[in-house]
Amino acid sequence: MASNVTRERTKMVPLPSDSIVPERDVNKRPVLEARHLGIDFGGLTAVDEFNLAIGPTEIAGLIGPNGAGKTTVFNLLTNVYKPTRGTVILNGKDTKGMRIDQVNRAGIARTFQNIRLFTDLTVEENVRIGLHNEIKCNMFSGILRLPSHWRTEKEFHDRSMELLKIFDMEYLADVKAGALPYGAQRRLEIVRALATNPSLLLLDEPAAGMNPSETAELMENIRKIRDQFQIAIMLIEHDMSLVMGICEGIAVLNYGKIIAKGTPEEIQNNPQVIEAYLGKQGED
Ligand SMILES: Nc1ncnc2c1ncn2[C@@H]1O[C@H](COP(=O)(O)OP(=O)(O)OP(=O)(O)O)[C@@H](O)[C@H]1O
Ligand SMILES: [Mg+2]
Repeated sequence: MASNVTRERTKMVPLPSDSIVPERDVNKRPVLEARHLGIDFGGLTAVDEFNLAIGPTEIAGLIGPNGAGKTTVFNLLTNVYKPTRGTVILNGKDTKGMRIDQVNRAGIARTFQNIRLFTDLTVEENVRIGLHNEIKCNMFSGILRLPSHWRTEKEFHDRSMELLKIFDMEYLADVKAGALPYGAQRRLEIVRALATNPSLLLLDEPAAGMNPSETAELMENIRKIRDQFQIAIMLIEHDMSLVMGICEGIAVLNYGKIIAKGTPEEIQNNPQVIEAYLGKQGED
């Protein structure tokens, strides 16, 4: 047999739903499928006919000019906004009518374009808030301080440290989140989201405000998270070096509609995408 092709760039394979996923994910159920998703705000159609499938270990990108509807898509996928039309299938389940916390328990965790941390709580406490979604705390053992409570406490601490280790942040465990530099706050938000044990992690502009070396490091860490946790990640990002460097499938949004889907190479060479970003050029 010919040698394996794992070192080659990812091949994207079409699915029946007009979406593409990495070749290794093709015979597996997508972690998420959006079908005909859309939302209107009064007279404004912010998102329309959004169709996408994400493979269970895919790193996917969602890009587009300012105001294209990217954050709105994340709000639709997490039920922060109720879709005007369309369906979201998460791990095979329709999320219609679920509360935000139920969508989180069903598998989606996210970070926000504007960082949302508990700034007066420590780094570890912020991670523990995420963990509380995952580990069920036994109320009785907590109140009575039975040994099992302490075991759980130790479990919480150990797990928090393990998660903070992803970004080498264990030594910051007792620092107030609000006292961290900006880049570290963004990393902490990712750790807190991971603490909820998601199967799909949504990152809204994770590199915003980071310097080039922090961005390069983040890129490596996003890949590491995918490999270590075997989860899917979808990111919104304006930093094209990051998007083109780590995303396998990319969807481009313009005025609320997907205008292109494909690999980084396909997207970079797509005339419609170039026009959406640069505007019409050279008209005489
Ligand atoms: N709650 C809302 N009510 C009314 N309009 C909204 C609401 N949320 C978003 N919009 C509108 O939807 C459109 C898309 O906004 P969105 O924030 O999703 O864009 P974006 O692609 O994330 O942009 P950016 O790159 O600047 O973050 C904008 O016109 C915005 O004003
Ligand atoms: Mg946005």
